[in-house]
Amino acid sequence: MDENSKGREHWATRAGFVLAAAGSAIGLGNIWRFPYMTGEHGGAAFIVIYLIAILLLGYPLIVNEIILGRASQRDPVGAFRALAPNSPWWLVGGLAVFTGFIILSYYAVVAGWSLAYVYKVVIATQSPGIDHASVFTHHITSVWEPIAWQALFMALTVGIIAAGVVKGIQRWVTILMPILFVLLIILIIRSVTLPGAGAGLAYYLKPDFSEVTGRTLLGAISQAFFSLSLGMGALITYGSYLNSKDEIPGNAAYVVGLDTLVALLAGLALFPAIFALGFEPGAGPGLVFITLPAVFAQMPLGGIFGVLFFFLLGIAALTSAISLLEVVTAWLIDEKGWRRRNAAIFMGLLIFIVGLPATLGYSVFKDFSFPALGTDLLDTYDWFANSILLPLGGILSAIFAGYIWGIKNAVHEANKGGAFFRLGRGWAFLIRYIVPVLIVIIMAVGIYDSFFK
Ligand code: TRP
Repeated sequence: MDENSKGREHWATRAGFVLAAAGSAIGLGNIWRFPYMTGEHGGAAFIVIYLIAILLLGYPLIVNEIILGRASQRDPVGAFRALAPNSPWWLVGGLAVFTGFIILSYYAVVAGWSLAYVYKVVIATQSPGIDHASVFTHHITSVWEPIAWQALFMALTVGIIAAGVVKGIQRWVTILMPILFVLLIILIIRSVTLPGAGAGLAYYLKPDFSEVTGRTLLGAISQAFFSLSLGMGALITYGSYLNSKDEIPGNAAYVVGLDTLVALLAGLALFPAIFALGFEPGAGPGLVFITLPAVFAQMPLGGIFGVLFFFLLGIAALTSAISLLEVVTAWLIDEKGWRRRNAAIFMGLLIFIVGLPATLGYSVFKDFSFPALGTDLLDTYDWFANSILLPLGGILSAIFAGYIWGIKNAVHEANKGGAFFRLGRGWAFLIRYIVPVLIVIIMAVGIYDSFFK
């Protein structure tokens, strides 16, 4: 074990890290956000750009974050401080912790909707002729109900984090991820065999690049960051629970592969059904909550599948939320000397409060619309976190590894621990040049398009 990692908790098994990181990556981002982003940004063309973003930015940055964590054995703030002492780079870690805080605040709102739908979907599927859009609208425009579910979700997240890094998380991920996978396959089969599914398949599989704008590109990288849990130190933190004998390049590839697969499958489950049942693919964040219940309503035993689906969506969200709370909790523990339990409870409470405006953005604050973007409160949180803060965190951590800590150190760290395959010049080139330049250009164009077009 490393000299500097004494007394620190570490993943119990080799699979522990991969499962935890995949659990972090696979969540609402894959099943809720990816389909609606694809739907809002023109279908297959968005997916092609997304896949390019995963290869050029996602994989290199995942490795980069993991090695920053493992090399330092610290939370994000401590990691930058340890690798570049007496410099202002710790601020990048601070930005990461802040971003995680913001993301979890609204993530818990959507996760709460999922939990509520575990029983709402039964009502929705058992009432013939019900308008699924209005069921959803009714739910999110109430005041206390969504808050209660959001609170429950935060309480579960806090409970797990307070109990420790490894126990619970690993076991739940191992059991539940395969079930989610099987359910997705069943849903896909149902979806693509509906009469009229062909139009949705074409939309999903045939790219039309004529609608691609700067906003599409920014949407694709924001989705890549969000889905892979990048840009806010989640992987620095999870990486900090690795030992120097643990493998990184191959395990990072597993995480990226699993995450991408689940996102693509979720789209395949949704779009054929959306088109077959006459829904709009650009419905935005309500897509999964409005369209899927309509699909379940037309399936034999749809109510049961609906319950299982939203239960598992909630679980997938939980294994992601855990990683978000772990970052802010680790910061209080490592930097401020707090006890784990107190840190988790305190941060959980604070995050819940900061999330309340997003919950109430459909009721009390329904008239809010962010100038020029035209987004409601939850979408505004989402946009700033994922289109601004995460890419910024990504650029800065790449510049840090590429130029400050030093690319030689970074490459050495990446290959330490019996790498399945070695990372070398190609990876270094991506981190030093492609990642920062590409993100800066896309952010500039995307922000311009978002506000001025
Ligand atoms: N990746 C998760 C999802 O797809 C969300 C998430 C967890 C996340 N941890 C993160 C996003 C850290 C950004 C940064 O649902």
